[in-house]
Amino acid sequence: MKSHPASRETIHRAAGLIAAGRLVAFPTETVYGLGANAEKPSAVARIFEAKGRPRFNPLISHLVDLEAARRQGRFTPRAEALADAFWPGPLTLVLPVCETTTICDLARAGLDTVALRVPAHSVARQLLEEAGCPVAAPSANPSERLSPTRANDVLDGLGDAVDMVLDGGACTVGLESTVVQVIGNDAWLLRPGGLALEDLEAVVGTLRLADDDTPDQPRSPGQMRRHYAPQARLRLNAEAAREGEVFLGFGPDGANAEMNLSAKGDLREAAANLFGFLRRLDEQGATAIAVAPIPNKGLGRAINDRLVRAAR
Ligand code: TXA
Ligand code: MG
Repeated sequence: MKSHPASRETIHRAAGLIAAGRLVAFPTETVYGLGANAEKPSAVARIFEAKGRPRFNPLISHLVDLEAARRQGRFTPRAEALADAFWPGPLTLVLPVCETTTICDLARAGLDTVALRVPAHSVARQLLEEAGCPVAAPSANPSERLSPTRANDVLDGLGDAVDMVLDGGACTVGLESTVVQVIGNDAWLLRPGGLALEDLEAVVGTLRLADDDTPDQPRSPGQMRRHYAPQARLRLNAEAAREGEVFLGFGPDGANAEMNLSAKGDLREAAANLFGFLRRLDEQGATAIAVAPIPNKGLGRAINDRLVRAAR
């Protein structure tokens, strides 16, 4: 595996890969991102697989401009002011998701908010324009490792797990974007980063600081980030449905299941189906769901983490 110097031709190829659901690492002004089509759960599942994250954390979706961002999240005047001042650039806005969103549940980790960023790097911008879809991209490093600021760092960490690495030189900021959540008139700093707090506050006034223990979970009443959880009761590691339950299967044994996360027993396919299937069973009015055992390896760990929390 080697990287490809960014050029019109290689960016065009990379955009085709993204559109087709593959993984492309690309430079932004902050750090290199591991990008996938944010509209396709199966593509987003590959990101979690490549990074080896034990959880489905919410990802930042990258957009070509503010207009494209407005189709995904609800902008209040305060959010507009931040976008006007700092986009394109190292600022991520976490906003309530809006009706017209095309970003999948898995990229949002089932939250009712969405993280949006318009990057300034010219390679990232060309890639977004050509791909024609929002691109979900965490930093392009294995979970728990340092964020990459050069194409070679990406190759060292992720190597063959990526379909293509675009080389656009060293990142100028070298730190991840600053993450700010804006809901209504309230704004919280969720993650300090490449855009200084002083610069932000000069534009929108004092930001609230998120709770130290749970930096990405604002604590004010009514402002908590909320994960989608099914209405139905969940029973995990079930061999079969009992009276009153519907069965959510996994693997060939789940043939008589109401729904099967993956008849082939493919964990990536199961991850891609998870949120959508839980939602559909809810919509069908299921009151209790029995879920087949999911092997606790690879993406199975993140699936089980999610199921355990939904079962509480
Ligand atoms: O500079 C960056 O931000 C890089 C480049 C590639 O754009 N990306 C990046 O992504 O650092 P990642 O996935 O490593 O970090 C995403 C951050 C996490 O702290 C996550 O918790 C937060 O954004 N985040 C994303 N969606 C969120 C949401 N809906 N609510 C709260 N926090 C969210
Ligand atoms: Mg990261």
